Amino acid sequence: MKFQTKAIHSTPLGDPTTKGVKPAIHMSTTFEREADGSYPAGYIYSRLGNPNREMLETSLAELEGGDAARAFSSGSAATFTLLNTLKPGDHVIAPIDVYHGTASIFKEIMAPWGLLCSFVDMTNIGEVQNSIRPNTKLFWTESPSNPLLKITDIRKVSELAHSNNALCVSDNTWMTPALQQPFSLGADAIIHSTTKYLSGHSDVLGGAIIVKEHNNLLGRISNLQSTIGSVPSPFDCWLVLRGIQTLFIRMQTHTANAEKIATYLSSHPQIEAVHYPGLETHDGYQIATEQMDSFGGMLSIQIRGGKNKAMSVAAKTTLFTAATSLGGTSSYIEHRASIEGPETHTPDNLLRLSVGLEHPDDLIEDLSQALDQP
Ligand SMILES: Cc1ncc(COP(=O)(O)O)c(C=O)c1O
Repeated sequence: MKFQTKAIHSTPLGDPTTKGVKPAIHMSTTFEREADGSYPAGYIYSRLGNPNREMLETSLAELEGGDAARAFSSGSAATFTLLNTLKPGDHVIAPIDVYHGTASIFKEIMAPWGLLCSFVDMTNIGEVQNSIRPNTKLFWTESPSNPLLKITDIRKVSELAHSNNALCVSDNTWMTPALQQPFSLGADAIIHSTTKYLSGHSDVLGGAIIVKEHNNLLGRISNLQSTIGSVPSPFDCWLVLRGIQTLFIRMQTHTANAEKIATYLSSHPQIEAVHYPGLETHDGYQIATEQMDSFGGMLSIQIRGGKNKAMSVAAKTTLFTAATSLGGTSSYIEHRASIEGPETHTPDNLLRLSVGLEHPDDLIEDLSQALDQP
């Protein structure tokens, strides 16, 4: 079955009780027990399991081609949970330009707990190899990276991980399974912030972990999920599932728009650099064409004139909202260094663009007027 069909049919289309054509939202936190102590529908208490959460988990596992998924209350909760399957003293290799919230989880929460983390340039396989220690248990990939859009060769990193008895995790938030399938490249687990493209409308916070195989890792993740309860509400699960119905077509338009904008900005005199893996001039172009179906809706640009000029461009766009986050229907522009804090590796003249579903001509006109103003 093709991806578009799966995205629509990987979840029950209707509600069997009412024959409504959309699934019902099950808000009950607790479920009735029989005299013999059993739970006839299989649900006990919604921290442990909920019908809407199960529908979302089934859909995500099917879309990524994994055996199972577990949904969380945010992408960061999913990341934190995955790292908690490790033990103090274990070592993790992560990209130096990993999403800054993920870096904070590593540095501020997991390092004091005892996790050892090396941050490396993941585009340099030699550097990744040199960072391996006897206790390296996990390789974290994020490709394209946030916000520099560096491309990691997920296949090569997976091979390195496996030859060292470690796991390879891929944060597939920016690509979604519509554009990149990390399991087919060797990853063992996939992380998502469903807050972004999967829900697609900037109105839900959520996350997920999908595992390639039913194994001990899934057992540990499930245990953490149901014991801690950092789970999404039934309504949030329902909203993400609704977003998934249009995921494929949205990703096509986000990509087509971003490609046009990247091309336009590449020759703009006010632009110092455009970071978009769909440009042949991008360092990771070759790997990107091999491991991605298309190049996605995110890009970043470096503005001539430094931080102040970049900040003023972000303030002068009208269709692009100056806001954080990404993957919504409307376009966002953001000065990243100022949100990432003093330890950031992001250049201070960099703006990140989440290209929405508006007409690309209007978006280009908006960027053009903002760039051309003194
Ligand atoms: C690549 C990536 N992973 C994870 C996250 C964290 O997701 P959330 O904000 O849902 O916790 C983000 C958020 O921007 C992200 O861009």
